[in-house]
Amino acid sequence: MQPRIEGAFQVPANLYLTPVLQGTRRRLVQLALVLLPGLASTVAAVAETAAGGPDLHRYWDDRCQGCHGDSADFARRTLSVAGGRLQGRHHVDELPRFLGQHYLAAPLVQPVLAMLQAQVQAMPLYRQHCRRCHDSAAQLARDALALREGRLVVRTRGEPVDALLARHGGLDRVQALELEATLARVAHEVGLR
Ligand code: HEC
Ligand code: HEC
Repeated sequence: MQPRIEGAFQVPANLYLTPVLQGTRRRLVQLALVLLPGLASTVAAVAETAAGGPDLHRYWDDRCQGCHGDSADFARRTLSVAGGRLQGRHHVDELPRFLGQHYLAAPLVQPVLAMLQAQVQAMPLYRQHCRRCHDSAAQLARDALALREGRLVVRTRGEPVDALLARHGGLDRVQALELEATLARVAHEVGLR
């Protein structure tokens, strides 16, 4: 975790706190006093969402994107899957151990590995067919999708995503099925349950 220096105090790089930190120095002191005992739990707290699970994509954007760029592009460019296991270009067999020592909170090592592995294996359909009109798949999932009884739907009107993709986005049937699976995974990765 990378601490950020604010005045004379070290405050965890919890982005949600930024507006508060723009207050007076006195408020900063009070805030630091409140925060310091909670440092250990901060990493997990950053990634939790109101919806349920941790938001892995937000976590990536906060902690990893600055050096590695978009997670799916990074995964496709740098990583590969062999024998069902994710491998790096440099860290071939010991990628999980490397990640455990590399900016990543311990409980998130396995979920982030799983996300990167899925990204290596998925066709870049969203990028090719949707991205020119929409924000990232993760943001679309946060803003517009929901899981209802295990089914992926458009949140506002409850329309199943498979029905949407049959009339919207220009995919053929096989591509639509694959993208639906990808969007369901991404929905899960941003914490929808
Ligand atoms: C300050 C820059 C920086 C940040 C932040 C950062 N990384 Fe890295 N990362 C690197 C560098 C440099 C390497 C290559 C070093 C090496 O291979 O030993 C690397 C290597 C990797 C690799 C292995 C690539 C390979 O081919 O073996 C993975 C996977 C990875 N990072 C994931 C992450 C994740 C996940 C995060 C966020 C939790 C993250 N990184 C944050 C700089 C960064
Ligand atoms: C040519 C531009 C364009 C492309 C390409 C496109 N969309 Fe859309 N999409 C739109 C517009 C415009 C809307 C309607 C926005 C609104 O009224 O909220 C929309 C609506 C949606 C909605 C419903 C949002 C809501 O809250 O009602 C979803 C989900 C969606 N698109 C997913 C996709 C996916 C997945 C793809 C790729 C297969 C895709 N779109 C391709 C322009 C596009």
